[in-house]
Amino acid sequence: MGASVGIHIEGLSKRYGEGDTAVDALKEVNMSVAPGEVVGLIGPSGSGKTTLLKCLGAVIEPTRGRMTLGGEVIYDNGWKISDLRVLRRDRIGFIFQAPYLIPFLDVTDNVALLPMLARRPNGEARARALELLTALDVAHRAKAQPSELSGGEQQRVSIARALANKPPVILADEPTAPLDSERALAVMRILNQMATQYQTAIIVVTHDEKIIPTFKRIYHIRDGRTVEEAGEGRALQ
Ligand SMILES: Nc1ncnc2c1ncn2[C@@H]1O[C@H](COP(=O)(O)OP(=O)(O)OP(=O)(O)O)[C@@H](O)[C@H]1O
Ligand SMILES: [Mg+2]
Repeated sequence: MGASVGIHIEGLSKRYGEGDTAVDALKEVNMSVAPGEVVGLIGPSGSGKTTLLKCLGAVIEPTRGRMTLGGEVIYDNGWKISDLRVLRRDRIGFIFQAPYLIPFLDVTDNVALLPMLARRPNGEARARALELLTALDVAHRAKAQPSELSGGEQQRVSIARALANKPPVILADEPTAPLDSERALAVMRILNQMATQYQTAIIVVTHDEKIIPTFKRIYHIRDGRTVEEAGEGRALQ
């Protein structure tokens, strides 16, 4: 895999639209996240945070620049991967602002679905789901339907789902916003454990003052440009 394992972004730009109404949401952004690292991405509303995660997650196409994920160039002034769907399914865990659970599957199957799609045996996928639900303190709701859960419980299930395939990259957009302080820190503890245990590279977009002190490294984004700085890196017991 060589030196470029993790997440690397070089000169990444994204323009929405054309002509007078064009918006330059990202302006030659550079960013690197090593395997095992959890970095914060912080910036005001409209600064380009979600756009950056969507480019990295191959949800939208950048305008130019270069992106490497897990040792492979995925974008270099054009996609370098033929099947972006498989890339998203197997290599990237997404945690969105809203949980987007599948309403007709119970909690366990919502989490087990991705490992099953990746052809893991059903028993193994469900055992993994239960392990994650336990770690996220929602195992007692394993048989419930998503509509029967509180907002915070749904969010924790969606985090379990993002971790289920042990992806080398996790992209999280405001993952702790609906959670109380204790659970927000529990989520950060799990993300940090995941990073260490599976050498996952994790980017967390957040405004959440409860979790900002936990990052060792932070990228600030303002008007489409990033600046890196050291964080407090407060220990999560
Ligand atoms: N699909 C789109 N078409 C046109 N402009 C867009 C589109 N999506 C986002 N933008 C613009 O790009 C800029 C960056 O938006 P983005 O959603 O990345 O911001 P953000 O940092 O995630 O903000 P927030 O904190 O409010 O979620 C904004 O000016 C926004 O209006
Ligand atoms: Mg956003």
